[in-house]
Amino acid sequence: MNRSIAKLGTTIFEVMSGLARETGAINLGQGFPDAQGPAELLDAAARALRDKSNQYPPMRGLPELRAAIAHYYAAQQGLTLADEEIVVTSGATEALAACIFALLNPGDEIIFVQPLYDAYVPLAELVGAVPKLVSLEPPHWRLPMAAIRAAVTSKTRVILLNSPHNPTGSMISATEFEMLAEICVANDIVLVCDEVWEAMVFDGTRHVSPLAIAALRDRAVKIGSAGKIFSVTGWKVGWLCAAPPLASMIARAHQFLTFTTPPALQWAVAEGLMLPPEWHKAHVQSHADGRARLEQGLRAAGYAVLSSSATWFLHVDLPGSGIHIPDGQFSDRSVREAGVVTIPFSAFYAQDPETRFVRFCFTKPEAMLDEALARLARFRETLVG
Ligand SMILES: Cc1ncc(COP(=O)(O)O)c(C=O)c1O
Repeated sequence: MNRSIAKLGTTIFEVMSGLARETGAINLGQGFPDAQGPAELLDAAARALRDKSNQYPPMRGLPELRAAIAHYYAAQQGLTLADEEIVVTSGATEALAACIFALLNPGDEIIFVQPLYDAYVPLAELVGAVPKLVSLEPPHWRLPMAAIRAAVTSKTRVILLNSPHNPTGSMISATEFEMLAEICVANDIVLVCDEVWEAMVFDGTRHVSPLAIAALRDRAVKIGSAGKIFSVTGWKVGWLCAAPPLASMIARAHQFLTFTTPPALQWAVAEGLMLPPEWHKAHVQSHADGRARLEQGLRAAGYAVLSSSATWFLHVDLPGSGIHIPDGQFSDRSVREAGVVTIPFSAFYAQDPETRFVRFCFTKPEAMLDEALARLARFRETLVG
C-alpha cells in the first residue's frame, strides 16, 4: 500500500457527520446547508440533464461554463480572464490535487499555513513533496509573513494559501499579497490560492484574489468552487484560473485525475454564474441572517465568539468562554452530552495544534440553530458550573 495513504485516517468531517447520523445530533460540524440549493440552479440542472448531451464534455470544461466563470469574476472581482486561463474541475479538491501533482516533484517543498483544510498535506505527501508548516496567530489570524519568509528555501516551489480562510474566516489583504509577491518573485515560487469561500463574505468586507495583483498575475493560481458559491456542496463543480502556461500544465494533471465533470451540473453552474449581481447579493444575505443568529445566541449563552468576516463558520475560544477542556474533548462531549456536532480546531493542524477553539457552521434553518443554541447553553453550564 502507498505509505502516505496507509497512515491516513478518515477525515474529521466524515467522522463527525457519521456521528450526527448515528446519534441524531444536530450537525453544526461539516459545512453544508440543510436547504436543497437555489431553485434556479436545480431547474437548470434538470433541464440540462434532459435536453443537453450527457456524454463527455471538453476536458477543460464546457466553453459556456468557462465564459460564465470569466463573466462572474469580471463582475465580482474586476478580473479579466481569457478562456485558456480557466480549467473546470470536479470540485476545488480536484483543482488542489491537480496543482500539487503538476507543480511539485519528490523532495520539493510546499509552504502551508495552519490551521488548514485537511486535504492539503496528504496531497503534497502523495507526490513526495515536503510540507513546510507555518501557523496563523490567534485571535486575529493574520498571515505570519516573517515565518513564511523564514520557511522559504531553494527547494520551495509552491506557497498554498486559503482566503477567505476556513476555519477562522480571516482574509488576506492586497497589501499582504503584495508582500507575498516579493517573496514569490524573488524565489520563483507559484502561489496557489484556495478561494472557495470568496463569495461568502460579510460585513461589507471585499475579497481580494492574488490574480488582481500585477506581480502575481503570471505566478498565481486561483481556485474556486460552485459548491460554496451556490450552496450545493455535493455537486463538486470547481475550477482553477491561471495564466495560460500554468493553466496548461495543471490541465495535464487534471486530464488523468477526472478528465471532466458531469455536464448537466456544468450547464447549471454556468446559468447561475450569469445571474445578476443582485441575485448573488441576496444569496449571501440569506447566509448572513443565520450567522447573526448563531453569533448572538452563542454570546448570550456565554461563549466567547471570535470575530470573522467570511465562510459559513464561527469559532469560539473555549478558555475565554470559561471552559477548560481541550477542543477535541469539547467536540466529543458536545455530540454525546448535548447532541450538537462541532469541529475542534486541532483537526485543522498537521503539527503543534491549537486546542482552544471550536468551529460551528451556521448555514442551518432558524429552528435548528435555536435548538442547537439551547442545547449548547445548557452544555456550557455543565462545563463551567
Ligand atoms: C478551504 C476549502 N478548500 C476546499 C474545499 C473543498 O471544495 P470542493 O467541495 O469544491 O471540493 C473546502 C470545503 O469545505 C474548503 O473549506
